[in-house]
Amino acid sequence: MNITEKVNSIREELSKDIDIIQSINDINNLKVKYLGKKGLITDLTANMKDLSIEDRKIVGKESNVLKNEVETMLNNMLNEFNNRELNEKLEKESVDVTLPGIDIPQGAPSILESVIEEFERVFMSLGYDVVDGPEVELDKYNFELLNIPKGHPARDAQDTFYIEGEDVLLRSQTSPVQARTMLASDGNTPIRMICPGKTYRRDDDDATHSHQFVQIEGLIVDKDIKLSDLKGTMDIACKKLFGNDVHTRLRPSYYQFTEPSVEVDVSCFNCGGKGCNICKNSGWITVAGAGVVHPNVLRNGGFDPKKWTGFAFGFGADRLAMLKYGINDIRSFYNVDIRASHAFDRKDDE
Ligand code: DAH
Repeated sequence: MNITEKVNSIREELSKDIDIIQSINDINNLKVKYLGKKGLITDLTANMKDLSIEDRKIVGKESNVLKNEVETMLNNMLNEFNNRELNEKLEKESVDVTLPGIDIPQGAPSILESVIEEFERVFMSLGYDVVDGPEVELDKYNFELLNIPKGHPARDAQDTFYIEGEDVLLRSQTSPVQARTMLASDGNTPIRMICPGKTYRRDDDDATHSHQFVQIEGLIVDKDIKLSDLKGTMDIACKKLFGNDVHTRLRPSYYQFTEPSVEVDVSCFNCGGKGCNICKNSGWITVAGAGVVHPNVLRNGGFDPKKWTGFAFGFGADRLAMLKYGINDIRSFYNVDIRASHAFDRKDDE
């Protein structure tokens, strides 16, 4: 038999074999029979080395054509059988919609993040932008531009982590974003921003101290801004944040970057001011440091203090979250235990 005759005889045999295929298994057996290592088509090229170059070419070509043909044919049949099997299975099966579903565990928002979002909602409704600033900060922004020169004793209260020499540090407050925002502006456009973010201080961690915490900074720069504007803004914001019944008061304080400086207290949102363990029986809770922006700070930020005035404030988010949710250990915000978040999940919706 020459090669063409052999190929034709394989084709004939294949067509008979195909006629009696009943299952996927039959197809796989045919694959072995024709295409396997000892299969009929492989066998065609078994004695290639004994052939002349001319014959080799013919045998190689013919057997290749046949191989491709058979492969395609068997694969198509395999697909057909697979589809048929799947369809039969789907027809037979019905879905029991009454079966209980699979319980997919849900995450919970971090409590601190929820507090930040609440602040953002409130201050955005008052027309403030939410801005961001770097946590790795330069001494210049963290202290100097805020009127706290090198060697000033006010720095002692904010000892932080230095990363490179004395100039690169983890920011000890979000106030540097005041300086950054002013410098990013043209010195001639009003500013109204809040900046929530992580801050760091070299502190020994315990239930009420953490080397990492969250502040929410605020800055407004405009014409004719006065202490009374600060008072009004704090009053509205605190009512929105803690409930319409709370009152606000300002107490004198001291910060290098504001003059005058104040502490912002709200009447206790737990006892309404009568005195309880949350407000330590004083009826008041301190929520922020604030004040009228110091002329030096405006000048350092490129604003002319003769034309521009402003106020600034800084809330401590951790303490607020602790008071609001009755959490007694600040470390539970940072030890990445998801149970801490779950415990307070959707507390507001209940
Ligand atoms: N940065 C201050 C601190 O960490 C808080 C603060 C006080 C921020 C007064 C202000 C401010 O913007 O005006 O203690």
